[in-house]
Amino acid sequence: MKIGLPTYFFESLESTNVYAAQLVAQKPVAEGTVIDTAYQTNGHGQKDRIWDSPEGQNITSSVILRPHWLKIQDQFLLNVMTSMAIVDTLQFWMDQSIKVKWPNDVYVNDKKISGILIQSGIQGSTLQYSIIGIGLNVLQNKWPSEVKNPTSIVLNTSDDIDLNEVKSMLFEQLEKHYQTIQKDASKLLDRYRGSLYKKDEETVFYIQGKSVKGTVRAVDDFGRLIVDTSDGPRLFEVGEISFSK
Ligand code: BTN
Repeated sequence: MKIGLPTYFFESLESTNVYAAQLVAQKPVAEGTVIDTAYQTNGHGQKDRIWDSPEGQNITSSVILRPHWLKIQDQFLLNVMTSMAIVDTLQFWMDQSIKVKWPNDVYVNDKKISGILIQSGIQGSTLQYSIIGIGLNVLQNKWPSEVKNPTSIVLNTSDDIDLNEVKSMLFEQLEKHYQTIQKDASKLLDRYRGSLYKKDEETVFYIQGKSVKGTVRAVDDFGRLIVDTSDGPRLFEVGEISFSK
């Protein structure tokens, strides 16, 4: 299996995740197939948000995986391998420390550089397919004012950046970390825990609409966030807690 073989590239597409989902519903698709586009007319973000990215400047791609071997309760490992593939790709071009903002964002100095949208198909107790959607800001240097704290690779390096080079490295890292989680995920999980945004720093969260102070300590083996609060350590599922900014 090679991530990026084949790659279906489109000048423009509604959303690479939507196209990938239509493809897997229609016919058998090889693991590692990538859907890539220069421009999405209706890119999807987390929580029904839109993901807007100007033509030809950033990575907007979806990788189709078939992780039949992965238990459903361990599917968080797909977030881990994707986040760390992005971190390792970025670390090649920049010295700044790259953080994983649980559960789906990658940050540089309090600014968002990448977002992940994973959509899986489950049959019985098996993961039939997972679509790993990645938006990674590479060349963009201007955003509409409503976009909160964005950044990109070009804004963090003085090197000349080639979009296709970044893409190839990202797919290489994804392939490597996908192999890792099939063997033994423990070291990668440790690195992921060590890269958590705001780890060991008191910060403000929203929990059930209320702002609450707390400190991120770790993520458990099921992907729940462990936060120290004034009530002691608490575990949060995705959607139960968010960073205030
Ligand atoms: C987020 O931060 O809210 C997640 C953003 C995910 C965006 C990517 S771009 C490629 C893929 N196709 C989509 O429609 N969304 C993901």
